[in-house]
Amino acid sequence: IQAEKAGYKHFMLKEINEQPRAIRDTTLGRVSLDTGKVFLEAMQISDEDLRNASQITIAACGTSWHAGLAGKFMIERLARLPVEVDYASEYRYRDPIADPRAIGLLITQSGETADTLAAQAELIAKGSKTLAICNVVGAAVTRKAQGTLTTNAGPEIGVASTKAFTAQLTALFVLALHLAQVRGTISDEESLHLVTELSKLPGKLASMLNINSPDAPGSSEGVAAPIRPSTRAAASDTERRSTVRLPLSAQCEELARLFHTSDDFLFLGRGIHYPIALEGALKLKEISYIHAEGYPAGEMKHGPNALIDESLPVVCIATKDPNDPSSVLKYEKTLSNIQEVTARSGRVIAIAIEGDTEISQLVEQTIYIPQAPELLLPILEVVPLQLLAYHIAVRRGCDVDQPRNLAKSVTVE
Ligand code: G6P
Repeated sequence: IQAEKAGYKHFMLKEINEQPRAIRDTTLGRVSLDTGKVFLEAMQISDEDLRNASQITIAACGTSWHAGLAGKFMIERLARLPVEVDYASEYRYRDPIADPRAIGLLITQSGETADTLAAQAELIAKGSKTLAICNVVGAAVTRKAQGTLTTNAGPEIGVASTKAFTAQLTALFVLALHLAQVRGTISDEESLHLVTELSKLPGKLASMLNINSPDAPGSSEGVAAPIRPSTRAAASDTERRSTVRLPLSAQCEELARLFHTSDDFLFLGRGIHYPIALEGALKLKEISYIHAEGYPAGEMKHGPNALIDESLPVVCIATKDPNDPSSVLKYEKTLSNIQEVTARSGRVIAIAIEGDTEISQLVEQTIYIPQAPELLLPILEVVPLQLLAYHIAVRRGCDVDQPRNLAKSVTVE
């Protein structure tokens, strides 16, 4: 088992560090860097069916459901096709409205989750065709689907999903681009731009994780990147300039030292970043047994603001794509939400884009990630959340790879 961990202390840390390769292998051969065109493996759903689709119905569980929520933003934005996202465990109990023009999309790492298979059976019974995004070739879900996009993340052992999640986000992005191209809702120029940006992600992830190339193993600490811990506005310019840049994993380790005794955590995000807030909270719950909630940043004023006090760590995803006006607007609104938290003495940990000094003036801690287009940012911003959960769980002496009461694959309903 030690050998399988390749020098890492836990499978989870190994798998976090395998993300550059997982993303590259999920993209490879599916996109052309010359034309921006997407090529998907043979599907028994024709382009005609994709053009005429009335909607996409996503059903999934756990982390895969979070990927589905992010996928909704990708597909609706690029392909202008309505997307509904259901918990697979709920789907068949509400006599869902499905029609033959709706396409079911099952997202599942294992391809064996009983609830997801039941949702697929329900979709098929209602006359929908189904597609699968799955990490295991030949798994049950793929046998009934009209097409499968395999996430090439490789076997995932840690119960808490990491590389399979970012590979799912990548597959969803590729699928969204494909749908957009088939349906004519994206220009060639935009396609090429997005495909080029997608191809830069493995390198960006590798630099965040201090890995020389997507194929190279990361350091067993899983480190590096130009990350600077910020201190609340109190720090003078001189102090700030002289702050040593800590690697990402080391910075998350330091956050773990500061916050591992907290009883509760809040994770906030807007738009496509909201599912990442949910995923950050789930990672923490799963492996450290700390109560954590993910919330849409704008909903704080409708309840959770009442929870804020000086002991509550609030992780805010406050990233933006400066070339995307809707992303900038969302960022500005999130900044006001952060101000509401700091005004009530909440302790904010922000995930922001490298170079954003506005945010570091406002909050106690800032973790920086590289720039990317809005729809691709989730793939980068979840990494510090995975590392934060990991280091907190290690500090609390939890069994990181096999948390209590949880299974890697849940084959009962
Ligand atoms: C279990 C695992 C989770 C996973 C969920 C769905 O609860 O512990 O990590 O997200 O099942 O699994 P699937 O294989 O369908 O993605």
